[in-house]
Amino acid sequence: MTRVPSLYSSQSLALRYFTLSVALFGVMIVFGLIAATKYIHPGFLAQPLPFSMAKIMHIDVLVLWLLTAFMGSLFWLLPSEFKRDLVGMRAANVVFWLFCITIAAVAATFLFVQYGPGTDKTLWLVNQGRKYVEEPRWAAIVVAIGIAVFVYNIVGTAIAVKRITGVTWVIILNLIPLFGLYMLAFPAMTNMAVDQYWWWWLVHFWVEATWEVLIGSIVALVLMRVMNTSRNVVETWLYIEVALVLATGVLGIGHHYFWMGAPKYWLGIGGFFSALEPLPLLGMVIHAVYDAGEHKMTNQPAFYWTMLEAFGNFIGAGVWGFMITLPQINLFAHGTQWTASHGHLAFWGAYGCGVIAVIYLAVQEAGGYAQIGGRAWKWAFGLLNVGMYGMGGSLLIAGMAQAFYERAIGGSTFNAFVAAQQTPWFVEGIWMRWVFGLLFAAGYAILASNLIAISRRSRVAAAAPATLAVEGAGTR
Ligand code: HEM
Ligand code: HEM
Ligand SMILES: [Fe+2]
Repeated sequence: MTRVPSLYSSQSLALRYFTLSVALFGVMIVFGLIAATKYIHPGFLAQPLPFSMAKIMHIDVLVLWLLTAFMGSLFWLLPSEFKRDLVGMRAANVVFWLFCITIAAVAATFLFVQYGPGTDKTLWLVNQGRKYVEEPRWAAIVVAIGIAVFVYNIVGTAIAVKRITGVTWVIILNLIPLFGLYMLAFPAMTNMAVDQYWWWWLVHFWVEATWEVLIGSIVALVLMRVMNTSRNVVETWLYIEVALVLATGVLGIGHHYFWMGAPKYWLGIGGFFSALEPLPLLGMVIHAVYDAGEHKMTNQPAFYWTMLEAFGNFIGAGVWGFMITLPQINLFAHGTQWTASHGHLAFWGAYGCGVIAVIYLAVQEAGGYAQIGGRAWKWAFGLLNVGMYGMGGSLLIAGMAQAFYERAIGGSTFNAFVAAQQTPWFVEGIWMRWVFGLLFAAGYAILASNLIAISRRSRVAAAAPATLAVEGAGTR
């Protein structure tokens, strides 16, 4: 029988963030498919939307759907850690709507204005030019204020309550660098090498340090809820993972400093420390498998997505990242589709799967369901993952063709660059990425409709609990 629990106000806001996040995930896929089609037919939509703008939309929206889902996850999970609602919820709600307006305005700017002259006005109104965080300066200021309010929601609550759990401590300490690094979206440097040097701090220390710690903490909270894992176990593992992530990831940044004008010593430092980066990710797999064997799960989709997060993080970031991280190999793989293959599998494994797990947990808890049943979530799970690992495999083949034919055999000349893109390996790889992209999109459609169906059913049950109670939610 469905029991609809009353929610904390931060949890109602979390559901709004999840809705926004799932919608943005869809937008991201549309632009990914457009960009993938352009690889096959360069003239496709060339006039209104050049490749570069389609790609900016794809990857900026990627950052947005993950960040909004992270915010939703903490708004959903933290009240039970604090045993109370979060503070400053009125401001947090205003921030949500500000974000919606800003995202819409920036998307309109990218789609219809696109470029500007190399002036300050362009930086402020059109594009700051930093990959993944291209939003114009005015929008970046709105984002910074919004994140500052978010930090206040959490830190302010922590100050208000006397006792803070270990996981919450990790989350709070981690929010400081996570927020601080975003400041690197702002400076406009004229020396390309210096500019790249600092820009990598933002990208690398987000995805290979602060976001890893954040998702580790989120997964720890999910494991306790879904499998009743003991707090001692998850906290101990979390501390080990955090220590290892920082020990390997900080100097691991050197793997981006090989060929962009930074001093030569980065070749050794970057190679050594980034080769160790898979270790914490392996720890997460062991942790997840260990817990899975011990306990009963109360939310099947959340369980499967959490397990895949652990394995996918290890495979996409750890194994795929390791393949291209030694300078001797990176010399050939740098900037090819091999990198894109790693980028897709890593973002998906480490973060995409993790936030989908939390969203399933949230719709279950919001509806008061004992379990999420049915076939739809399994189809979504299957199609999304066959699609993603298919795309990753296709790009790997295309990227290896580039590494061998363009770099190793062709000596990195422009002619070799063009010739490599005409090899059957590359051409077929790019086609297969498109086909698997369609499967991925189909998986997304099922995922979104499944989540909507589950939430709708709980709303119906809330309206008429006695007559319309649904047994075993999401039985579709
Ligand atoms: C239908 C699904 C998707 C398609 C067709 C697709 C396609 C593409 C294309 C064509 C590019 C441009 C590559 C280039 O510049 O050569 C790209 C870049 C990228 N995509 Fe996707 N994508 C999809 C889904 C995703 C998902 C789900 C994620 C993450 C969870 C993701 C993460 C990225 C990243 C990080 C880049 C930048 C990679 C780089 O520049 O090295 N994509 N994608
Ligand atoms: C969740 C964690 C990770 C994510 C989301 C991620 C994502 C990415 C993305 C998107 C890029 C392309 C950046 C660009 O040029 O736009 C990249 C590059 C790279 N990543 Fe990762 N990565 C992760 C972890 C790792 C790990 C653990 C390693 C090493 C073991 C690694 C090694 C590399 C290297 C060497 C490059 C540069 C490739 C080149 O020179 O073209 N990454 N990563
Ligand atoms: Fe990195």
